[in-house]
Amino acid sequence: MSWKSTVTDILKLEYPILQAPMLGVSTPEMAAAVSNEGGLGSLAVGGLSPEVTRQLIHKTKSLTNNPFAVNLFAHAVPPYTEEDLEPMRQLLMHLASQRGYQLDATDLSDFRFYTYHDQLDILIQEGISIVSFTFGCLDSTSIQQLKNGGCTLIGTATCVEEALYLQQHDIDMITVQGIEAGGHRGTFLDHIPLPQVGLFSLLPQVKSAVQVPCIAAGGINSAQTIKAAFELGADAVQIGTAFIGTDESLAIASYKDKLMAAKDTDTTLTRAFSGRWARGIRNELMSEIEKSGVSIPPYPLQNSMIAKLRKLAQQAGDSDYTTLWAGQSAGRTERGSAREVFLNLVKQYKTLYS
Ligand SMILES: Cc1cc2nc3c(=O)[nH]c(=O)nc-3n(C[C@H](O)[C@H](O)[C@H](O)COP(=O)(O)O)c2cc1C
Repeated sequence: MSWKSTVTDILKLEYPILQAPMLGVSTPEMAAAVSNEGGLGSLAVGGLSPEVTRQLIHKTKSLTNNPFAVNLFAHAVPPYTEEDLEPMRQLLMHLASQRGYQLDATDLSDFRFYTYHDQLDILIQEGISIVSFTFGCLDSTSIQQLKNGGCTLIGTATCVEEALYLQQHDIDMITVQGIEAGGHRGTFLDHIPLPQVGLFSLLPQVKSAVQVPCIAAGGINSAQTIKAAFELGADAVQIGTAFIGTDESLAIASYKDKLMAAKDTDTTLTRAFSGRWARGIRNELMSEIEKSGVSIPPYPLQNSMIAKLRKLAQQAGDSDYTTLWAGQSAGRTERGSAREVFLNLVKQYKTLYS
């Protein structure tokens, strides 16, 4: 079977395999390792400052001459008042002190929100040729600006209507994200109740609705799951959780251990950590926030409020008080370098299907 597809042709790849952008976990080293082997590495910069965005792009460029994608968040920041946030602030202060972490009020209020508008000029100046995004669709001016620079755009859809929306807005490729996927749902059409469609059902439906190439995401972590995605019409696959255990990942050791031990039922969807629905391994902080009954502020407010506590927990190696984003196939995560994990997948695939 040939690895060639519209995605490999357009993006100039050897293999139609993308390493998923994973903010907080993926790194320039991970993205470069995959790009260097002929896949597409992704650099996650959603919500980061322009300075950090530029640094990460420079770092990735210093590690690979091959194309890589830069991934943005296309969300709006909702209006809010300090009173809206106060109950959650109190809860997080209480949970932190119970656990022995020192947090003060400024840790939960002193935040600055960056959107893709703050990052766009940098991507254009840096000549980024592939931009992927999630949580919405870029506005038409930004789409035009990026396209004028020859950029290929990849949006994320979790249902057919979102895929059609992206196609109508001139997006070149669509990441079709099944409910199995780790991390945040890319969902963005508010009038539809949270789409929870499995990749087996979603992919063929999106494929028959749109004409643009589709990249399958969610639960893919082996030659067999890659093959299944191709059989269902995928033009490429995007793999996230399988790279969390790699040497290049920022995940702390106890997060990697939990991944490897995870059973099929250990992940769940939650809004507790960020205010947006996301899939991760259930832990104590998630359960405490959910059972508190305190209203969870919308993304990115909750995400910013919890950031310091998450950081303290990570420094302490405490996997019960940080986010453990992971997909439903988490339990089969392998350790090793990103290069090894990537090449193993390619090798297994060639052995089974060539
Ligand atoms: C730790 C983690 C962080 C993620 N962060 C992002 C992100 O920054 N941008 C994005 O578009 N998707 C993000 N995702 C979703 C992935 O792009 C992808 O849809 C998902 O990993 C595919 O499912 P899998 O984890 O089962 O392979 C993240 C996923 C994980 C597991």
